Amino acid sequence: MFENLAPYQHIIVTGPQRSGTRIAAHAIAQDTGKRYVDEQEFGIHDVERLKVLLESETDLVVQCPAICHAIVSLAAENRLIVMMLRPLDDIYASQKRVGWMKGKSEVAKYGRSECRAADIKYAYWLSIQRQQIPHWFELPYEALRDHPLWIAREKRVDFAIDQWQRHERTAQEWIEYCRSNISAGYVPDGDKSQVYVMGAKLAKILHEHLPWQAGDTVLDVGSGNGRLAFGLLGSGLIYHGLEIIRPCVEFCQAAFADYPDFHFYHLDLYNEHYWPVGKISQDRATYPIPDSSIDYVVAHSLFSHTGTISNARRNLEEMKRVLKPGGLLCSTWFLAPPRDGPDSDEALTVYWRADFEMLVHDFEIVEDFTMPTNKQSAFVLLRKND
Ligand SMILES: C[S@@+](CC[C@H](N)C(=O)[O-])C[C@H]1O[C@@H](n2cnc3c(N)ncnc32)[C@H](O)[C@@H]1O
Repeated sequence: MFENLAPYQHIIVTGPQRSGTRIAAHAIAQDTGKRYVDEQEFGIHDVERLKVLLESETDLVVQCPAICHAIVSLAAENRLIVMMLRPLDDIYASQKRVGWMKGKSEVAKYGRSECRAADIKYAYWLSIQRQQIPHWFELPYEALRDHPLWIAREKRVDFAIDQWQRHERTAQEWIEYCRSNISAGYVPDGDKSQVYVMGAKLAKILHEHLPWQAGDTVLDVGSGNGRLAFGLLGSGLIYHGLEIIRPCVEFCQAAFADYPDFHFYHLDLYNEHYWPVGKISQDRATYPIPDSSIDYVVAHSLFSHTGTISNARRNLEEMKRVLKPGGLLCSTWFLAPPRDGPDSDEALTVYWRADFEMLVHDFEIVEDFTMPTNKQSAFVLLRKND
């Protein structure tokens, strides 16, 4: 359908959020053989990082709704700008459905304060931007119906940000998938099916305490076999999981292969209990995540398995580095009291309260309560303030 666009060096797909930029960019990339670049790759709003990327590579198809206001600055003779067209009512209904509520910050980019970002984007495109761009093309959302990537509305089963190109499974199929494919690492109560089942319970607790919205970015440190990731399916959050047990990472990468907003990375860190073949000491860990790029870090049942205080400190330094200012870190800890302790065993680490307070002193403590699923475990919500 889009093969004729191949001669352009880069194709940049923009428009209002929920106008179909992501599926359009995927379809164009598939037809032209170019590399698909998701807005996550350059930081969603970061025009300068995107410019560097466009200069350093060729043959990219970039999805960038949040850069619509600056699209003229990305135009060039060998680049095509694609503006997605979708009826305004459909756009706003879709934004409401997935809980996208960033209209105010979008319109602020145009020096405006009202909330109807899509109206403003189209008005600006028609009256100012289009005239200044050498090569542009307006693509109606509905035209994508003819593309093989399109999945008819009636087949969609939930309302995540990405609703296409999935192998949808029922809960029972996911449970079977976990039973058949998990090959290593921690599973709740020694039962592989509980990874999926408990995921929903864990996500429910987090939904009650974290004001996250579709489109926000979450980093799950110690992602294990994807318990939290399963619970966040359909949330519209952009998820990154870090884990030291390689087979767990491989399991998650395969399980979530159809979900482009779920990413899993292996950290080759030594942990006597969980990953004794790891090459790097835990207190020298570096997360493969850019500075100030994450809205929420989750460390569920991580610090209770990292062993020493210096390992915990290093993780907290990395978490602080990757969090955006004001970002939240949701963590669980075994603390003494109420537990006996301390214990620096990597199978089960317990901290004196005083040590814990010293470790998190850089953060603001927002909440501190007992985890409903484990009365021995403290749930602590921390904010990065600077
Ligand atoms: C008890 S499991 C919990 C897994 C997952 N968070 C959950 O709730 O199902 C602890 C996990 O943390 C991982 N882990 C331990 N130390 C780590 C570190 N320094 N960085 C990342 N993951 C780590 C372990 O391999 C293990 O998968």
